[in-house]
Amino acid sequence: MNALFPAGFRWGSATAAYQIEGAAAEDGRTPSIWDTFSKAPGKVRNGDTGDIAADHYHRVREDVALMKEVGITDYRFSLSWPRIQPTGSGPAAQKGLDFYRSLVDELLDAGIRPVATLYHWDLPQELEDAGGWPERATAERFAEYASLAAEALGDRVPTWTTLNEPWCAAFLGYGSGVHAPGRTDEAASLRAAHHLNLAHGLAVQALREALPASSEVSLTLNLHVIRALSDTPEDRDAVRRIDAVGNRVFLDPVFHGRLPEDLVADTAHLTDWSFVQDGDLKTISTPIDSLGVNYYSPSVVAAGTSETPSPWPGASERVRFLPAPGPRTAMDWPVDADGLYEVLVRLRDELPGVPLLITENGAAYDDYADPEGEVHDPERVAYLDAHLAATHRAIADGADVRGYFLWSLLDNFEWAYGYGKRFGIVYVDFASQRRTPKDSARWYAQVIARGGLLR
Ligand code: FCB
Repeated sequence: MNALFPAGFRWGSATAAYQIEGAAAEDGRTPSIWDTFSKAPGKVRNGDTGDIAADHYHRVREDVALMKEVGITDYRFSLSWPRIQPTGSGPAAQKGLDFYRSLVDELLDAGIRPVATLYHWDLPQELEDAGGWPERATAERFAEYASLAAEALGDRVPTWTTLNEPWCAAFLGYGSGVHAPGRTDEAASLRAAHHLNLAHGLAVQALREALPASSEVSLTLNLHVIRALSDTPEDRDAVRRIDAVGNRVFLDPVFHGRLPEDLVADTAHLTDWSFVQDGDLKTISTPIDSLGVNYYSPSVVAAGTSETPSPWPGASERVRFLPAPGPRTAMDWPVDADGLYEVLVRLRDELPGVPLLITENGAAYDDYADPEGEVHDPERVAYLDAHLAATHRAIADGADVRGYFLWSLLDNFEWAYGYGKRFGIVYVDFASQRRTPKDSARWYAQVIARGGLLR
């Protein structure tokens, strides 16, 4: 029996502005924290930057045609804040808005629904210079930017996501420092997490004001699937700590209007949380229409200690991470589709009534074009097949999953890993910018046409 998905299921693919656009200094765009970070020696492998990336800025037509060929119904992309509002405050830059308007028009002409993310990590450098996410003012600036974007594009973009993976922005950006802006201050990373939550809440309110009533407003989290090495109380406490600073630090304020009490206790040596002001949690919990979940792989933890600087404030002194078993992708991430099932049924139970979107899932492998110019990527097909099967199983068991966005449409700038890690279903030869659909693109096209998996 085939595994068919519900009618109306959204078959998507995802990208992010800094990872694909290039044109870093064109049409008034100013540097973001990722421009600065990638140019600092030793931060990104091979010294790669997003200056040119996949040159999507100049190839919108071709790229939308590729999407149409695959047959995706929805395309998730992000808006570059420094392209739309170059200084991070004040009026919008018309050319920046024009670019996104032409992308959106191209998508609509192709019958593809645009899904826009406001923040996929490219904070205008000017706002970082003023203190960045640890400062409350950044959240206020974000809401202003959200209004500008919604006013310009809201008539044609039905789905809006405020933030992509605020965990990475806060804790990799300000805690471990492996992402831009590369700061290593655990207390500042907690402030950043709160101000990202606040930015989300303020932006939801700004979007509601500017968008048509039928618009969908969402948030994307990379929820961590955490397994204990053993059933001892110490190992189970390690899971609790990572769950607090990995998941509930966002889920509790956004969906329940509260801070996780155990996280406040775990981090008492770092901060008294006095940066949380009256009314913040009410703002942060302004209702949204769906939750986006990004899932790649699970983690295994036990009692112990982790290296510092760490992206796990309040947990690094008590938790160690172990390699999870099983096959690995080129990122060295374990392949474990059950983890996706687990996170979906957890959300089914904890957030009844909240529709779910899988806003990212996919895998990097060492792809290359063979002498015939073809790119065969059977491991990626197997990865995607297993994760879609897990999604299907979760839906059958009552999880309200409305769509799946494959990461990624194109090979792109994989943050601190640079161009060495290829996640695309379309191969990009970065020297010529030639695009070649991989076998996985044809496979995904068949899945979409059939409405599910062959079994
Ligand atoms: C996620 C990011 C996305 C991409 C994938 C592999 O954390 O949101 O931009 O880099 O990982």
